[in-house]
Amino acid sequence: MLLVSSVISASMAIIAFSGKGGTGKTTLAALSVKYFAEKDEVTLAFDMDPDAHLSKLLGLPLTKTIGHVVDHIHKEKKLELEPQKPVDVSDVEYFYSRVMSNVLIEGDKTDLLTLGKPSSDIDCYCPVFYWAEHAVTKILKSYKMPYMHIVVDCDPGTEIFPRKILDRIADDRGIDYVFTVLDGSRMSLDTAQDIVNEINKKHSNFGKVYGICNRVDDSKTQQLIKEVAKTKYGLEIIGFIPTDQEIVRRSLVNQSMMDITDSSAYEAMREALKSLHI
Ligand SMILES: Nc1ncnc2c1ncn2[C@@H]1O[C@H](COP(=O)(O)OP(=O)(O)OP(=O)(O)O)[C@@H](O)[C@H]1O
Ligand SMILES: [Mg+2]
Repeated sequence: MLLVSSVISASMAIIAFSGKGGTGKTTLAALSVKYFAEKDEVTLAFDMDPDAHLSKLLGLPLTKTIGHVVDHIHKEKKLELEPQKPVDVSDVEYFYSRVMSNVLIEGDKTDLLTLGKPSSDIDCYCPVFYWAEHAVTKILKSYKMPYMHIVVDCDPGTEIFPRKILDRIADDRGIDYVFTVLDGSRMSLDTAQDIVNEINKKHSNFGKVYGICNRVDDSKTQQLIKEVAKTKYGLEIIGFIPTDQEIVRRSLVNQSMMDITDSSAYEAMREALKSLHI
């Protein structure tokens, strides 16, 4: 990973992939990371789904998550899970150092941070989000944002939006784009609408929400989805990502997407990003 501030530029993009479960968020997030890596642009990939899979698609070895560190500080350091009073600087430093040494995976052009989940002794995700806010703020601030792009893979649905963690990422310069991945179903459009509503309610520093439709290959159906999305949901679709057997194959044999070639899905994802001048 490159630690020089000269890589910061106006074309930096912060993109969150959201949407209904199983629509292709993680896959499209990984293809976007690949696009940036090919342009030689350093990216922080942030897997915010407790059911974390992004590492596999990026070919990065995941051993520990922020959830593991929260477990550790709770059990061994006896720190409160969600302190009611301001947290000691030394506790934050300790937490941060463990995240940096155990969780942040530094790749060539891509670093990966994984939220994960706590062990079953802690039956709530809130502490993980609480502490992750500290980690994210610190990583972005103390590195002076060396990352040109941040790609966030959200968990399914709207759960992530009331949490403050996306706001912490957006603190400096906003989230540029929220892509809600659609699978052509009315349900995926309904989830997209819920996401838009959540964002409009509380997140003024979030940029435009776009729909991106995955695995709907029939042109007439695509046209219909475009119309319904626009007229009934006010949602603009920036791309149709085709069903791609190479993605199916790689997923089955647990092979990264980073060196994928001849991929119609990757080509379409690249065109969608280019259409936004990313
Ligand atoms: N364009 C595509 N062509 C072929 N297979 C695809 C495509 N997009 C996604 N898939 C496959 O569909 C499955 C679901 O994709 P993915 O895991 O990316 O969805 P998700 O929205 O992240 O799911 P979750 O909500 O569980 O996090 C995976 O097996 C993936 O390989
Ligand atoms: Mg996923």
